[in-house]
Amino acid sequence: MAKRKILTDNDPTLRTVCRPVPRITPRVITLLDDMVETMRYANGVGLAAPQVGVLLRAVVIETEPGVVHELINPEIIETSGEQEGSEGCLSLPGRSGHVKRPNYVKVKALNRNGEEYVLEGTELLARAICHETDHLDGHLYIDFADYMYEPEEEERVSPRLRKHARKHER
Ligand code: NI
Repeated sequence: MAKRKILTDNDPTLRTVCRPVPRITPRVITLLDDMVETMRYANGVGLAAPQVGVLLRAVVIETEPGVVHELINPEIIETSGEQEGSEGCLSLPGRSGHVKRPNYVKVKALNRNGEEYVLEGTELLARAICHETDHLDGHLYIDFADYMYEPEEEERVSPRLRKHARKHER
């Protein structure tokens, strides 16, 4: 496994629509492993392949420590309810915004063995599924945030982001 560089800010790769993973090769497995390592190193709860410069439809999510969801070619098939809350992105370090998301999401994807499965999530997991699958279509949360937090407000709202910001400064 290796840590990869996370693309940030105005990198055009973050705005590109990714193509489906045609076949799960050893290279794809390595990509998933590297994405998990990179996400954990950066203290994130999710990471999408375009964030490490790979234009394939693959994401990893770990909203509950130790429980990693790998979604290849994910497709959201059902949503319901609504939640409001603060959201950040490893590709937009030091920032966060107020974003409405469905409170329940059902997504269909392939796992690393090429088997189709369904993942259901509420609250933070639902938010992460939406955020990460958005990345695959070149969308960032800032596109539909109701408003962005001021840096001092951001610290109050999300101590985790403060940790991120410090890490990125080093
Ligand atoms: Ni993100």
